[in-house]
Amino acid sequence: MNRKGCVSASLSLCAVVTCSALCPGAVHPAQQAAGQPARQAAGQPARTWTIGMSQCNRGEPWRVQMDKDVENAAKAHPELKVIFKDASNDTLKQRAHVEELVAQKVDLIIISPKEAAPLTEPVAKAMDAGIPVIVLDRALLGDKFTCFIGADNKKIGKAAGAWIARTLGGKGKVVELKGLMTSIPAHDRNSGFRDGIKGSQIEVVFEADMKWLEPDARKEMESALSRFDHIDLVYGHNDPGAHGAYLAAKAAGREKQIKFVGIDALPHEGVMYVKQGILDATFQYPTGGAEAIDTALNIFKGETVPKHVTLGSRLFTKENADKGGEPIE
Ligand code: FRU
Repeated sequence: MNRKGCVSASLSLCAVVTCSALCPGAVHPAQQAAGQPARQAAGQPARTWTIGMSQCNRGEPWRVQMDKDVENAAKAHPELKVIFKDASNDTLKQRAHVEELVAQKVDLIIISPKEAAPLTEPVAKAMDAGIPVIVLDRALLGDKFTCFIGADNKKIGKAAGAWIARTLGGKGKVVELKGLMTSIPAHDRNSGFRDGIKGSQIEVVFEADMKWLEPDARKEMESALSRFDHIDLVYGHNDPGAHGAYLAAKAAGREKQIKFVGIDALPHEGVMYVKQGILDATFQYPTGGAEAIDTALNIFKGETVPKHVTLGSRLFTKENADKGGEPIE
């Protein structure tokens, strides 16, 4: 998931769903930059742009990668300055961060929100203040933001369900370890999965909210193992969840009887687990960090940007991991 990979993914797989102009009514800072060449000609320094990046939890590898993707993409543009905020998985802290960025009058906010409902209002207020907002990965409620960038979690969940049904020969007992259910990706990975197993005899014998966190997944899996002597497969809504379940099964000496499937496919996490035989499959969930910077630059130029940018995903198994996985349909 280097920048090159992201860009090519966005070119080949990314579908633009809807288009809209920038936030209605907002006075766009890019309009104020129209005089930039004149400034430069007059020997004044070129206009710089400050982006506030509100990250919900830098304690997770995928989110560390997202911030890195933003940072690396921004580095190529000396006119950009990015202020990173880490809310440490605390919704109130993240709300305060957005408010701080508004008070600082940054030129644009990128947010990857922990939860949908509580972050919707501060983002709406940023828009009211004329600050464009790019939402990454976890959606908000309603449509008061400039651009949403993320992969299609329903599609990924459905592909996971279909792969699981196929791999288990149409029947089996599955544990579903769900992401934080107050965040949209968890809902979509759940409903997509249920769609994907429709018509099969896959039975979800145990489901729990592990809040996207590996230690929680491990604990939930311990409960599942103590209640069920036979489990065929664990579907974790992310790779840390699937890995936590694997560790619980290993501690109980049952990891060889169970298959493990996750989502994220970071090269140094999920894909590595697949290569090591820990996970049987993982579905890529691109961070969108590089695309967010590309979109921010377009906004600063005063261009109209799409309201939704949908990123593609790839499936990694031990058969295809060395070849870079394969796109999901
Ligand atoms: C990190 C994470 C990823 C997951 C994404 C969903 O916080 O849990 O593992 O794919 O968030 O929003």
